[in-house]
Amino acid sequence: MTTCRAVMPGPRPHQRYDGMKTLIRNATVVLPEGCCRTSVLIDGARIGDIDPAVQLAVDESVDASGLYLLPGVIDDQVHFRQPGLTHKEDLRHASRACAKGGVTTFFEMPNTRPSTISCQLLADKLALASSLSLVNYGFYIGATPENLPELQQAERTPGIKVFIGSSTGELLVDDQEALERIFGQTTLPICAHCEDESTFQRNLARWGGTGRVADHSRVRDEAAAVIATQRAVELALRHRHRFHVLHMSTGAEIELVRHHHQLITAEVCPHHLFFNVDHYPRLGSRIQVNPSVKTAQDNRQLWQALLQGQIQVIATDHAPHTLEEKQRPYPQSPSGLPAVENALALLLNQVNLGRCALEQVVHWMCEAPARVWDVLNKGAIMRGYDADLVLVDLHKQAEIRDEHQETKCRWSPWHGTTLTGWPVRTWVLGQEVFREGRFDESHTGREVQFDHALGGYWQRRLS
Ligand code: DOR
Repeated sequence: MTTCRAVMPGPRPHQRYDGMKTLIRNATVVLPEGCCRTSVLIDGARIGDIDPAVQLAVDESVDASGLYLLPGVIDDQVHFRQPGLTHKEDLRHASRACAKGGVTTFFEMPNTRPSTISCQLLADKLALASSLSLVNYGFYIGATPENLPELQQAERTPGIKVFIGSSTGELLVDDQEALERIFGQTTLPICAHCEDESTFQRNLARWGGTGRVADHSRVRDEAAAVIATQRAVELALRHRHRFHVLHMSTGAEIELVRHHHQLITAEVCPHHLFFNVDHYPRLGSRIQVNPSVKTAQDNRQLWQALLQGQIQVIATDHAPHTLEEKQRPYPQSPSGLPAVENALALLLNQVNLGRCALEQVVHWMCEAPARVWDVLNKGAIMRGYDADLVLVDLHKQAEIRDEHQETKCRWSPWHGTTLTGWPVRTWVLGQEVFREGRFDESHTGREVQFDHALGGYWQRRLS
């Protein structure tokens, strides 16, 4: 058992044994049909019942009066850096950060060292996670101009990641013929980093020499995002291939996806909802990300698209770098920020501010990613589903501080921000892994099961 840094130690999470029954009593439970004050039975690793008979004998009873019970968050875009870049992050630190943040499942990107571009490298990552990760995991396979056979054979993955513009790491597929092959000759769902390489390289030649990090939003500008998203959408439509636009950063991209909902889904990250170019003077390279943050108007348009259902998913793009690396002069400073342990709280705070409903947060962060990636038995609180659960105190106030972060890089762009609404207890497959500042690291999460025949977000209702 280890204690969360600088958090007052709370009670220990309970060690589980096979077949153990836990009753979470009197929570306001966010069910697919809406919020309901009821009790949820965890039976082993599954949700055994909702509103079970009162006389039921259980091993453990949790009084959740005044608290909300949510499905665990599924974060479909993280960079956990293992193998190869573990001075920035690793699976143990990152999965603790997940547990603390109410994230019970993550899907990790292939730009590690080596890049995850073969079935063997994918299997290696899965093996690493099976001994290191406190929460459930999946890993994307990365596309290169040459690895089509690997992309065709890959299983045990949410899908294929294409860097249509380069970012951290070596992955890039900019060549049109290679992109046509990837979209035309593979069957796994595809997601992409959409920033046009030649546009931002041209901008870099003009703005990259100023040493000002604020110029990052001129280098990776709106046009770079829109051109690449348009290109990817055209590929997806022409090849009738399921496609998910990662981290939308501009209002202009929304128009490109809104009419193609049968095939195309989109997501947004907290930093593109909450940060914009006006924040560079205060935050500098802490908010240097790819795609770059844009304007306050883009923040508003992205929020509106979420609320109107044109963007379906919120994911973090958790991409840690050390503060030392971040302090290098621009453009040597790397792009990316850590977010996995604060994303749910950031959204719960918005619920408290009246900007959105709790059920919408659950849709964006739990149900929608499960549907996009054909995840089996996760994303909702339903009988028979995996007992991946997070108990939330909507009244708890706490300040985000660098020194409290579980992520190995130990900083947050939201340092100094006080939020109302925090996860307080997290169960992964029935195992309580986090409880008010303390972790149980005696269990690991499991590899997520996908059934890509389910057909994705638009075909699938959770049932
Ligand atoms: O800002 C980013 N950082 N965007 C990405 O697409 C990659 C990520 C990283 O891995 O550092």
